[in-house]
Order: sequence, then C-alpha cells, then structure tokens
Amino acid sequence: MNEQSGKATSYSRVTLSRIMTAVDVNLYGTVHGGVIVKFIDDVAGAVAARHTGGTAVTAAIDEIVFVEPVRVGDLVHAQAQVNWTGHSSLEVGCRLIAEPWDQPLEADPLVVATAYLVFVAVDAEGKPRPVRPVLPESPEDVQRFREAEIRRAHRLAKRAAILESRNGAGS
Ligand SMILES: CC(C)(COP(=O)(O)OP(=O)(O)OC[C@H]1O[C@@H](n2cnc3c(N)ncnc32)[C@H](O)[C@@H]1OP(=O)(O)O)[C@@H](O)C(=O)NCCC(=O)NCCS
Repeated sequence: MNEQSGKATSYSRVTLSRIMTAVDVNLYGTVHGGVIVKFIDDVAGAVAARHTGGTAVTAAIDEIVFVEPVRVGDLVHAQAQVNWTGHSSLEVGCRLIAEPWDQPLEADPLVVATAYLVFVAVDAEGKPRPVRPVLPESPEDVQRFREAEIRRAHRLAKRAAILESRNGAGS
C-alpha cells in the first residue's frame, strides 16, 4: 500500500441515523427490506464518496443479511466504512443497529442487518478512475481488509466460472 497517498479507515467512516415511520412498512407491519437496502446504499455511498473524493457508483451489493425485523418507531443507525481498496474499486462494509422504541436505553444495541457493497470510482465520463488505498488502523480494520480480499477473490472466481460455463455451453 502507498502510505503517502492513502487515507485511514477513520477518514471516511460514516454513521447515518433515522427513526422508522409508518411509510416504511410492508404488509406485515415491519420495515420493508427495500427501505433497509436504500439506507445501506445511502450510507455506503457517502463513505465511498468521502474516500474517493468524488463520484463513486454502486457496482454490486453482496451478502445482505436481514438479522432482525425493524419496527416503526425504532431508531436505526447505519454504520459503514471502507474495508478494502483495489485499483478503481473499493468494498464498503455496513452494519445497521436498532434501538427498539420500547426498550430501555441500557439494552444491548440490536444488529438488524449487515452488507458488503462494491463501489467503483468514476470520472466525468463514467469511466473507472484510480482510488487511493485505504490504510487500516485497528486490528479489526486489518481483519476486515483480509476478509474483503477473500470475498473479492470469490467474486472474481464466480464471474470467471460463469463466463467459462457460458462459453462452453455455446460451443
Ligand atoms: C461499475 C462500472 C463503472 C464498472 O465499469 P467497467 O467498465 O465494467 O469496469 P471494469 O471492468 O474496468 O472494472 C473496474 C473495477 O470495477 C470492478 N467491478 C466491475 N464490476 C464489478 C462487479 N459487478 N462486482 C464487483 N466489482 C466489479 C472491477 O473488479 C474493477 O476493480 P479494480 O479496478 O479495483 O480492479 C459500470 O459497470 C457501471 O457504470 N455500472 C452501473 C453503476 C450504477 O449505475 N450503479 C447504480 C447507481 S450508483
């Protein structure tokens, strides 16, 4: 990693908070998955823009896990940070924590969703542009960087295997 031009993880870490309302619910009365996904994309997009110092588009959203239902009145915090950087892409990790409206403040925060998103920094023409490296600070940041490399390797391998299968099927 280039320590001169890199940015520490904390430089672009972002938390957004909002209270869920009646317009956010699905037919079952809990918060719609699409509302959660938009919240995740919003916070991760803010992180990507901060880290890359410009426009970055969502290329992929991986492994969204809805751990617990969210209800109207719950205060939800979306926390996100850069886990990994490549040449023009970066992985942002996101975790949503809820403070249920009917539980005391001392109650343990509830993890309601997690996700990994890949962003690509783009120029004015929408073409990929280089990103500065992220500089992990804590042991957890270093671990997240390593795990993101594993996910990156799996994404590339999966894409290559599917392309190979399609090419094989057409021959
Ligand atoms: C994302 C996008 C810019 C990539 O363009 P591209 O010409 O295919 O880019 P390349 O093949 O040169 O790859 C550029 C980087 O993106 C990564 N990438 C591209 N598609 C990806 C995908 N589906 N998943 C993960 N990474 C991806 C590549 O691995 C590469 O990473 P690296 O530079 O760090 O090694 C283009 O596909 C795009 O504009 N997509 C639409 C984005 C959008 O509208 N998002 C929703 C609104 S923000």
